[in-house]
Amino acid sequence: MDALQAICERRSIRDFLPKTLERSTVEELVEAASFAPSAHNGQPWEFIFVEDREVLDALNEGRKYTRMLLHAPGAFIVCAKFPEKPRQPKGDGVEYFSIQDTAAAIQNLLLAAHAKGLGTCWIGDFDEDVLRELFKIPQGYAPVAVIAVGYPKYTPNARPRRPVKEILHWGTF
Ligand SMILES: Cc1cc2nc3c(=O)[nH]c(=O)nc-3n(C[C@H](O)[C@H](O)[C@H](O)COP(=O)(O)O)c2cc1C
Repeated sequence: MDALQAICERRSIRDFLPKTLERSTVEELVEAASFAPSAHNGQPWEFIFVEDREVLDALNEGRKYTRMLLHAPGAFIVCAKFPEKPRQPKGDGVEYFSIQDTAAAIQNLLLAAHAKGLGTCWIGDFDEDVLRELFKIPQGYAPVAVIAVGYPKYTPNARPRRPVKEILHWGTF
């Protein structure tokens, strides 16, 4: 599968077959994530892989947009390192690059998963304190996303996209 095909065909998957992931597959996904660009090549990302059914179910408790975790054989908790001192002085617009870097790594992981016949769903609906406690996330790091992963039970249609004519600006906004 070429890169453009993976980009255009990837979908958020919210139902999965009851099939676990090989350890080597999990490692390949994280390796693909690690090829993302990052500011100063800082690579501020960390990946926790969870398969424990009770823990996956707990991540859905009291949340609204996380039901796919009840069927997912696994999930990544993706964390970013936040340096105590910002790398960029305040006023430069971007105080931390960590979220950008980590989001790029997540997208790599999603595309690699799709290319390998897996499905993923990026989940932003989580309680930071709950994740900190459950996964022993140390100070200086913060969870950025939960990524449900597994073998897709179905192929959803593409969700509508804003047309290029609307989002592309030539020269000025
Ligand atoms: C930062 C972020 C947070 C998201 N959070 C959730 C979520 O909590 N639950 C969910 O079902 N989907 C979530 N999504 C997935 C989006 O709903 C999905 O990407 C969007 O509807 C486009 O659909 P597609 O991924 O199939 O192209 C999230 C996506 C991103 C990038």
